[in-house]
Amino acid sequence: MSALRSPTTPSVTAALAAAVLAVTAACSGAVAAPTSAPTPAAVQGSDPGGGRDGLFGAITSGTIGAPGIGDPAFPGDGNGGYDVRHYLLRLSYDPATKRLAGSATIRARAVQDLTSFNLDLRGLTVSRVAVDGATAGFGRQGDELTIRPAYRISKGDRFEVTVDYSGLPEPIRDYVNLGTYGFVATADGSFVTSEPNGAKTWFPSNDHPADKATYDFEITVPAGLTAIANGELDGEPKTVDGKTTFVWREKHPMASYLATMTTGKFEIRTGKSDKGLPIYAAVAPVFRGSLDNLYTETAKITDYWSTVFGPYPFSSTGGVIDDYSSGYALENQTKPIYGGFSPESGIIAHELAHQWFGDSVSITRWKDLWLNEGFATYAEWLWAEHRGEATAEALFKRYYANAADPMWTYPPGDARATDLFNNSVYVRGAMTLHALRKAIGDAVFFPLLKKWTAEHRYGNVTTEQFVALAEQMSGKKLTALFDAWLFQPRRPAAVA
Ligand code: TRP
Ligand code: ZN
Repeated sequence: MSALRSPTTPSVTAALAAAVLAVTAACSGAVAAPTSAPTPAAVQGSDPGGGRDGLFGAITSGTIGAPGIGDPAFPGDGNGGYDVRHYLLRLSYDPATKRLAGSATIRARAVQDLTSFNLDLRGLTVSRVAVDGATAGFGRQGDELTIRPAYRISKGDRFEVTVDYSGLPEPIRDYVNLGTYGFVATADGSFVTSEPNGAKTWFPSNDHPADKATYDFEITVPAGLTAIANGELDGEPKTVDGKTTFVWREKHPMASYLATMTTGKFEIRTGKSDKGLPIYAAVAPVFRGSLDNLYTETAKITDYWSTVFGPYPFSSTGGVIDDYSSGYALENQTKPIYGGFSPESGIIAHELAHQWFGDSVSITRWKDLWLNEGFATYAEWLWAEHRGEATAEALFKRYYANAADPMWTYPPGDARATDLFNNSVYVRGAMTLHALRKAIGDAVFFPLLKKWTAEHRYGNVTTEQFVALAEQMSGKKLTALFDAWLFQPRRPAAVA
């Protein structure tokens, strides 16, 4: 389910071809005669995959999937050439050894002929790759896993890739910008928050929100521990030989960064919200005093948002408080997670608003992140308004008053890879929505939010599409408003 096209301009294609060449040259060619250690591309004379189709011929005939999905700010993220439909992740994790082992089966559809294609995978050891049951060649370079199927895949074909792998997963540590994210081993399990591109720290994936897919998880942990993933449990967990397997299914499309396998000791409360939606709340034992509050707030807020944003998009709601102190929350689909703190209701409101804005309606390019964070932050203001704590107008005015706030120099409509989660993307993004609300009035603004979530349910969007819908529904020209709020490096003129 891919929403982003690979770039097709000649210069970009040439650059991609050069990058693919380097990656493909490192393939280990498990199908054919074993090859020795990878040789540099420049001196590689023959096809390391076995010579069925010459390496250089493959490039010129355009049958190599691009090593990135085409997001200019994140050129290595995701991959081209195919759309993933479904991931089946069969994984076991042992907190004592911190070892993750298992297999990922990925069902995809080719959008071009493919003699090779990539998945994103960071660290870990791949022992075998099969495509449609036939052993395939593979190679690793950086965070790219390049796969050479034994048989050429034709455009439009559906195919299935199985990757067997194991190792000690490590999170990505970006000290400057994104912090620590991906798979984090904790004392009793794992804490998994992968935004923006940390899914590759624990499973091979097309790790970009432009390619959403459905997921099945079969996660095995030592008996006594709980494994929590997205969607709903399928049956009771089964314990055999001191190990328990939890089967979770997320049947609605999901961005890879929202997938989770949070494991450890948990106390759990399940039930239904007033509107009848199933709820799964889990807390690490030290947070047992917060379980009921997490459960009731999650139920109440999910139900409330369904009256404001439109029907809840998934089959259950929930929340997880782990004892790993990331200090952050992440809107993991159906299972927002709170890292080492008991969230106050504004944060729960933020993460649950993301289920509509970000999770169901997803971005196509990271620069449009305000469509997630601006909306979720504005939801916090709407929640404060609903509770009678503060009006959105008062919150807007308070932020507007500070002319020296650094967010005025950061245009939130163009989130930068080097400072992706800047406060501007959150707060100035929220202010953009408030300025819009004032310009078009509540009678258009709230139906607009519902139309947006309905029209793009389970899909991918861009800022341009939101601007177009706002103009269409209001009958107003809004280019100047959006330009001033989203794209100018200065504080917009005050709005009435
Ligand atoms: N999207 C999160 C929020 O607004 C913030 C976030 C970004 C995050 N990257 C993360 C949280 C990585 C945990 C890990 O709530
Ligand atoms: Zn957020």
